[in-house]
Amino acid sequence: MAIASTIRPCCSHLLISQIIPKYPYHFSKSQKCPHRYEVVAQAASTAPAPHPTFDPVGTGSATPPHILLHGLKPLVFTPLLPFPEKIRNVDPVRHEPIPRTESVAEREAWKLLNQSVVNYCGKPVGTVAVADAGAFKGELLNYDQVFIRDFVPSALAFLLKGETEIVRNFLLHTLQLQSWEKTVDCYSPGQGLMPASFKVRTAPIDGNADAEEEVLDPDFGESAIGRVAPVDSGLWWIILLRAYGKITGDFSLLERVDVQTGIKLILNLCLSDGFDMFPTLLVTDGSCMIDRRMGIHGHPLEIQSLFYSALRCAKEMLTFNEGSANLIRAIKNRLSALSFHVREYYWVDLQKLNEIYRYKTEEYSQNATNKFNIYPEQIPTWLVDWIPDRGGYLIGNVQPAHMDFRFFSLGNLWAIVSSLTTPKQAEGILSLIEEKWDDLIGTMPLKISYPALESDEWRIITGSDPKNTPWSYHNGGSWPTLLWQFTLACIKMGRPDLAQRAISTAEKRLLDDNWPEYYDTPTGRFVGKQSRLYQTWTVAGFLTSKLLLEKPELASILTFEEDLELLEGCACRLSRNGRTRCSRQAARSQLLGTVPRP
Ligand code: GLC
Repeated sequence: MAIASTIRPCCSHLLISQIIPKYPYHFSKSQKCPHRYEVVAQAASTAPAPHPTFDPVGTGSATPPHILLHGLKPLVFTPLLPFPEKIRNVDPVRHEPIPRTESVAEREAWKLLNQSVVNYCGKPVGTVAVADAGAFKGELLNYDQVFIRDFVPSALAFLLKGETEIVRNFLLHTLQLQSWEKTVDCYSPGQGLMPASFKVRTAPIDGNADAEEEVLDPDFGESAIGRVAPVDSGLWWIILLRAYGKITGDFSLLERVDVQTGIKLILNLCLSDGFDMFPTLLVTDGSCMIDRRMGIHGHPLEIQSLFYSALRCAKEMLTFNEGSANLIRAIKNRLSALSFHVREYYWVDLQKLNEIYRYKTEEYSQNATNKFNIYPEQIPTWLVDWIPDRGGYLIGNVQPAHMDFRFFSLGNLWAIVSSLTTPKQAEGILSLIEEKWDDLIGTMPLKISYPALESDEWRIITGSDPKNTPWSYHNGGSWPTLLWQFTLACIKMGRPDLAQRAISTAEKRLLDDNWPEYYDTPTGRFVGKQSRLYQTWTVAGFLTSKLLLEKPELASILTFEEDLELLEGCACRLSRNGRTRCSRQAARSQLLGTVPRP
């Protein structure tokens, strides 16, 4: 396995020329992307605007944003500060704010989160995956690294608390890593790829055996188990960038040429033309939070939800100019097509299941009802009893002759958060979670996937993976980090009570069990077989959930409402004469829950 060296020298402060790798040291001779050097020159000649003041304590002096980022219509930036607990927690007799006291679990969690901070050249740049590595007796593997997806809840906890520097540093340093040379057996993946994780190492300075410096060492999947590229990393990076911009008002960061270029590179990778017939992203197994073989290759819901969310973020953040006009148009088209596709083909409830059950197959025509030639026998027996009368969910995957009917929490929750679903579907998902509380929340929120693959299915689909045995790890295990995504979805849908209930179930147990990575068994009763303890995103997910419940209006840094402009886009359906044409009516009807007339 030939793996290119990925070590880069330390930088004590971020100069624009250091954000973009320098030729020829970091690029091979054949390295592409000369435009990035032009971009650097351009950027270097423009002094960055001073950052607006961020005002976490709520004195109300946050500077309003000074630019229009997306160029189409002004980003409506509602100052999110001062924080609202002052308004809510008021002593009814004295009419004074009641200072909130942190619970024992919260105090412990903040201690652990702060311990997990990783510094690079003296500045905080992220949090390590396992906060107390010493507590784990087995092999640590790559749990001593900063994972992009794991850092998101940490970043949110810090942002919601008013600590922004670590998030800013993280965003800029991971941007640096984006253009790394990365090769597996002479093959290089696309240039916009963001690493799954990185590590800070010390290395001897070139030509000086006695001196050492800190370097960042990323892993794009070339060292990861299975060698899978982390498709979700770039999407999370974009989502976090918007959250950072919205809460701090630091739009000058979003406006920087290198940041804009970073967004474009990620999107170019996702929007490039291929052989695909669907607007969903085609990826390999294990390219997201579920990073081992679990039969989610193809068009897994998790990636589609994050993709949709990242596209919506990018649409807001890209500066509008001649160079970005085509990309913005492509983003809008993809958003329309993607939401139509997912709302229409991934959604199941009792009625839809009954339709699938009665599907005709082998329909060769443009106006087939069963477009993907799904054989009704695919409906699993567990689902027939499990699907409630009320509510429904988005299934795990849809492709030719294949529907993966498993329930995947992250994809469903993030579809609510980003408005990938219709409002009615979003309500339906929360209803289903409420109805199926014992299965999906049980004694520890939240099931990553439901139900588990067992027997032959486990053997064939996971490749007999001993870590993903039934009701363990990714295969029906319970992951407390998902609490924050659940809280976010509940707040968006006006159901904070559900989130509160889940947090109460988790709080004491997480503290007593030392913040495990995951739990096993159908209701999450055991700490996971190979679970790490003091897992940072468990800690951070808990804190972020608490903070979001306390300041629910800040959820808007991550959520999106239905975009009516997108419904005017071209959702294709079949007309009576059998020709494909664009229909605004079909997309609108999904929203209104009516059946479109042909
Ligand atoms: C496991 C998880 C992955 C996570 C990593 C670090 O590999 O599957 O989602 O990012 O651990 O916590």
